[in-house]
Amino acid sequence: MAGGDFWVRDLGLAEQGLRRISWAERLMPVCLSIRRRFLEERPLEGVRVAACLHVTKETAVLVETLRAGGAEVALCASNPLSTQDDVASALASKGVRVYAVRGMSPQEYYECIGWTLRLEPFITIDDGADLTSTVHKILHGMRDESVSWATRVLSDPRGSCSSIYGGTEETTTGVTRLRSLEAQGLLLYPIIAVNDSPTKRLFDNPIGTGQSVLDGIMRATGILLAGKRVVVAGYGQVGSGIAMRARGMGCEVIVVEPSPVKALMAAMNGFRVTDMNEAAAIGDIFITATGDINVIREEHFLKMRSGAIMANAGHYDVEISKRDLAKLSIRVERISDLITKYVLSDGRELYLLADGRLVNLVAAEGHPPEVMDLSFSLQALAVKYLVENREKLERRVYLLPQEIDDMVAREKLASMGVKLESLTEEQVKYLREWQLGTT
Ligand code: ADE
Repeated sequence: MAGGDFWVRDLGLAEQGLRRISWAERLMPVCLSIRRRFLEERPLEGVRVAACLHVTKETAVLVETLRAGGAEVALCASNPLSTQDDVASALASKGVRVYAVRGMSPQEYYECIGWTLRLEPFITIDDGADLTSTVHKILHGMRDESVSWATRVLSDPRGSCSSIYGGTEETTTGVTRLRSLEAQGLLLYPIIAVNDSPTKRLFDNPIGTGQSVLDGIMRATGILLAGKRVVVAGYGQVGSGIAMRARGMGCEVIVVEPSPVKALMAAMNGFRVTDMNEAAAIGDIFITATGDINVIREEHFLKMRSGAIMANAGHYDVEISKRDLAKLSIRVERISDLITKYVLSDGRELYLLADGRLVNLVAAEGHPPEVMDLSFSLQALAVKYLVENREKLERRVYLLPQEIDDMVAREKLASMGVKLESLTEEQVKYLREWQLGTT
């Protein structure tokens, strides 16, 4: 693999990437207002940031916002298939150290993580925790294949990681991994769980994913959704958004969920709720959004109707067992870049989209810019918060302070021309009283 200052598919794509980044900027006003403040105040002067994110036009807006604040940024992809090559080239043409090519191998993926660490970062930004866990494996002296790949490009792996004093995490799966690291006493620097901020999780997770997952399925297959039976596995923030949007498109939605409270919520929201064994036999389209492994596996494939389509919305490509699918198949055919047909021994045909990777980022463009405006404004402010509070923070997973959340929400509302109600002094005072009750 090429290395050095960047590794992208083709610099000739830069012009197109720059045009698409401008399109996203138009729809990300909060990020842009943070960028203007950053340009004046330069709160990140001299701060080196290694980021492992989906390389999209929205991510480019974040990167330029951080650079406006004075940061030096190295960027690698957080998924081998989600990179928008034109955007990667555009960033490289503007001097960003970007290491991302759509379709790279697992080895190249981890080498790219290694390349970003050559920056000797102070801060890591992650989506799924591959960068943060690689850093932790290096610093804890753990070795596995991914670490060997990442460290191949580092002359002093520990030295490359030793200046890091904080990190952020974008997604639920990543936060779950980092909380495990914290629980085992192995977390080496403070992490801001941007995913858990209300202004992220209440919008990006259900609304962004709800739209972009259906967008991915439609772009990959071109099928009509109305009238289809859609099985959604997982009724968390992401799954509930997908279920809601699929219903909006005229699908009959069936939810599969192991948590009693979430399953009850799905049932009371009017969805049919059952287990995967039953759902497998009736679904036309299956969408996984659980964060867990082998959610759809051999016993389910054996029950599915011929023609069933499967897509994954969870961070890793482990939710639909590709191993079981391959084992049961007598033939595997590529229908297109995005559709693989598995022919089972009894002649039934099952279709997997986007190789079981994040369908919204592989088959579509990820969440729309208006939603990423919220998530990435929080990311930019989280980096600033880490810089300003580095002496105070411990080796823990933190939430961003509520004021930052409120500020981002307020600015978004203002950009949408939405007026907020103001409380009277009497109302503010009333909310603070504890003596007043029934009158
Ligand atoms: N995650 C989901 N959608 C995204 C997007 N458009 N850009 C970066 N990360 C994302």
